[in-house]
Amino acid sequence: MDRINIFARAKINTALDVVGKREDGYHDLRMIMQTVNLCDNITISKSKEKGIRLQSNLSWLPCDSRNLVYRAAQEMIDACGIKGGVDIELKKRIPAAAGLAGGSADCAATLIGMRSLYGINMPNEQLMKIGESLGADVPFCIMRGTALAEGKGEILTPLPPFPDTFVLLAKPPINVSTPVIFKEFSQAEVKERPDIEKMIAYIKQGDLKGICETMCNVLETVTVNKYPVISDIKRSMMEYGADGSMMSGSGPTVFGFYDSYEKGLEALKFIRSRYHIKEIHLTTVFNNKGKM
Ligand code: C5P
Repeated sequence: MDRINIFARAKINTALDVVGKREDGYHDLRMIMQTVNLCDNITISKSKEKGIRLQSNLSWLPCDSRNLVYRAAQEMIDACGIKGGVDIELKKRIPAAAGLAGGSADCAATLIGMRSLYGINMPNEQLMKIGESLGADVPFCIMRGTALAEGKGEILTPLPPFPDTFVLLAKPPINVSTPVIFKEFSQAEVKERPDIEKMIAYIKQGDLKGICETMCNVLETVTVNKYPVISDIKRSMMEYGADGSMMSGSGPTVFGFYDSYEKGLEALKFIRSRYHIKEIHLTTVFNNKGKM
């Protein structure tokens, strides 16, 4: 095999709690993570020529070591003593700086792709360790499906598959910096926290209504204070028949769950024109049914 094509799927958080601050500058979190089917596409081709040549469909995206795809490929070349180099094509559809772990998903897909392309015998645990050094969400993006994430986000407990639902993702035209949101977060100002155990019980029961009632993200108020449009979009999603709606990660993407494609599409059309949103996608949840 000289070439491989991999999907890099986005994630949403149906619950996000910040439980403490760590000495390494990161925060200890408790989150429910869910993979969705909106994806980037990565093609990796073996080359006799040394080095990594990365191209993407977005002219503004850095294609050097600032890009996690580049760094993931470099890590695998170094860790596995790969002789030649690679040509990588990255087709991005997942909005960037959006709270959807797009960069981490690309990074995870590159690690998985390099392992397959070169037939490397490396267990998932080791791949996830390499991933962890590149970004806190990368181990989950390797595992995928539904999981409880703790620590920085790297301590993962798989959960049963999420109930099937359509997912509308709307990213308002603002870029949110995750470090800035974490910096402005204050425990003293948290009014409501997610009941993670209750959400896990609802996931086990396949109870989407219960999940929606329990959804909570402690970073939402921080980002909404800066960008009130986020709560306007949430309200519109609910008015257009969402079972539940919330901001993902540190934002600004808002997601909504819809029980039919038609309902989701009506909401998409309204929100796209009302808020002048270009980055809006109707997708579904992804469940890997235990496969890595
Ligand atoms: O690991 P990653 O580069 O994705 O994290 C981006 C930023 O988000 C970190 O530099 C940090 O400011 C913040 N972060 C945090 N605690 C976490 C995860 C991320 O403070 N558990």
